[in-house]
Amino acid sequence: MGKLLYITANPKGIEKSKGLKIGEAFIKTIKAESPETEIKTIDLFTLDIAHMDAELVSARGKLAGYGYTLDQLTEGEREKILKMHAIADEFLSFDYFVFVSPIWNLSSPAVLKAYLDNLFIAGKTFAHTATGPKGLLTGKKAIHINTRGGLYTGTPMKDLESGDRYLRIALNFLGIEVMDTIIAEALDLYPQKVSEIVEKAKEEAILAAREMIKSPVIH
Ligand SMILES: Cc1cc2nc3c(=O)[nH]c(=O)nc-3n(C[C@H](O)[C@H](O)[C@H](O)COP(=O)(O)O)c2cc1C
Repeated sequence: MGKLLYITANPKGIEKSKGLKIGEAFIKTIKAESPETEIKTIDLFTLDIAHMDAELVSARGKLAGYGYTLDQLTEGEREKILKMHAIADEFLSFDYFVFVSPIWNLSSPAVLKAYLDNLFIAGKTFAHTATGPKGLLTGKKAIHINTRGGLYTGTPMKDLESGDRYLRIALNFLGIEVMDTIIAEALDLYPQKVSEIVEKAKEEAILAAREMIKSPVIH
């Protein structure tokens, strides 16, 4: 394997987060069975993300739409757009991605959306073509480890789930293949079953890690 970016969006820490424990099982498998893999962890709750505020939206528009150069931006605009590009450049330098996030209010923690906002850069991660937008990150692979208090799979709640769904849509849009989503759900519905649900998800995570090891990225 090449380089793997492990991206977590849970502020609870591994002692309290079931998702981070499942993620740990994934990463331990990669370390044990593909020791040459270069792994970097990003905790989105501590990462200094550029948020889509007035300055960043303005900088984006000036550069993309009005042909401005960097030195024609205000200092605040330049600082934020450079931060955004640094986050995207770092992301681009990896081959494999593991996202770990809980479902919060039917979606993902806001930091994950903010991070993904930093990756949508026309000309860098996707291109506008005559036939519509085209992802430029083809050949790269991702998985998502998603914890949920409620039960979505096979219930009417499935249509309301917008965390894993959006993450997959966003990564696919950029050209990244999402190999799998490992779902640990009903965690708050059946407290007596939590360890069983988490252990099953850990086993799935171990299998998914082995699958990822076997899946070469195409540059
Ligand atoms: C702010 C907040 C919002 C939540 N919203 C939902 C929700 O919409 N649907 C759901 O099934 N669980 C929801 N939950 C429960 C969490 O998804 C669940 O406890 C969590 O996924 C457990 O995983 P963790 O231990 O890795 O955090 C919410 C939890 C928090 C803290």
